[in-house]
Amino acid sequence: VANVLVLGGTGFVGRHVVDHLTRSGEHDVRSISRGEGVDILEAERFTKYLRDAPPDAVINCAAHVGSVHYGIAQAGTVARENMQLVMNMYEAVRQAAPAATIVNPLANCSYPGDSSTQVESDWERGPVHDSVLAFGAVKRMTYVFAECYRREFGTRTINWIIPNTYGPGDHLDPNKVHALNGIVLRLIGARNAGAETFEIWGTGKPLREWAYVEDVARILVDSVSRPEQIYPVNFAQNRSYSVTELAELIVRELGYDVEFTYDTSKPDGQPARIMDDAVFRAAFPDFEFTPMATGVRNTIAYYERALPPA
Ligand SMILES: NC(=O)c1ccc[n+]([C@@H]2O[C@H](COP(=O)([O-])OP(=O)(O)OC[C@H]3O[C@@H](n4cnc5c(N)ncnc54)[C@H](OP(=O)(O)O)[C@@H]3O)[C@@H](O)[C@H]2O)c1
Repeated sequence: VANVLVLGGTGFVGRHVVDHLTRSGEHDVRSISRGEGVDILEAERFTKYLRDAPPDAVINCAAHVGSVHYGIAQAGTVARENMQLVMNMYEAVRQAAPAATIVNPLANCSYPGDSSTQVESDWERGPVHDSVLAFGAVKRMTYVFAECYRREFGTRTINWIIPNTYGPGDHLDPNKVHALNGIVLRLIGARNAGAETFEIWGTGKPLREWAYVEDVARILVDSVSRPEQIYPVNFAQNRSYSVTELAELIVRELGYDVEFTYDTSKPDGQPARIMDDAVFRAAFPDFEFTPMATGVRNTIAYYERALPPA
């Protein structure tokens, strides 16, 4: 695959995809985002951009992303913009780069809201959780577009379901960071302030699966030349961590002696969300995931470098 276009290559996931592609030295890599002057919502301009230099692959990391609260407060805008991004991408690729492979990282909030173990065969068996309706349901529609464009136009897609992602390169603003990075950021702040206690929201018990952002970039890139994967596959390890376990791991890496307290007036959400890895393991038996301790260490190092000195 010579020419790769990364949509949203300035975002958290997209930047790592661009880095990974660039490091390999085997591809001509381009990124587009509004910050770089191309708005995918402007269909005509976006289509012309593709027509001028049709890519062999489109890795789709562009989205209107935000917290659960944001997805509720701005539900209409989030649903419309994300759906329009997907529709414009499929239509522009069909018209201007019909031989290109599209790679979509779908998020695991697209699973039924009540499934604690997320297995691909259950993906559409029940509604997404009400709190993530705008984000989750659009991800399901992305699959619908992939399948319908395949049927009518032969468009090639690789769909993945990715769990919550963490790692270096995220925002520094605690209100904008992704979940696990937010705990790292808050714990660094608490340590710098000399705090002896740290408050965890909820009971600290809910179990969640995580993916290291460089691993996500690697699987998105490595899968480009594989056979079509329209029905999405979990990018999964079948391994979950509780919030307390994560906080303990982070303070160990920080060398910070702190006592955790719990604000149990805050909701926990689902007790567990773990992703089944059988399909992934059968397809990628040799994929090596970055150990959590290494990923957390790299994330801490990133924030220690990027934050202003304490
Ligand atoms: N991060 C996670 O935990 C996670 C987990 C699973 C799946 N994913 C999926 O991975 C994808 C990327 O997530 P992320 O966390 O990397 O998001 P992000 O950091 O918010 O990045 C979004 C990117 O999309 C670009 N973008 C937004 N609207 C655009 C538009 N109209 N035209 C062109 N570019 C546009 C943004 O740049 P501009 O604002 O400059 O346009 C930015 O580069 C999403 O589909 C998300 O669902 C993420």
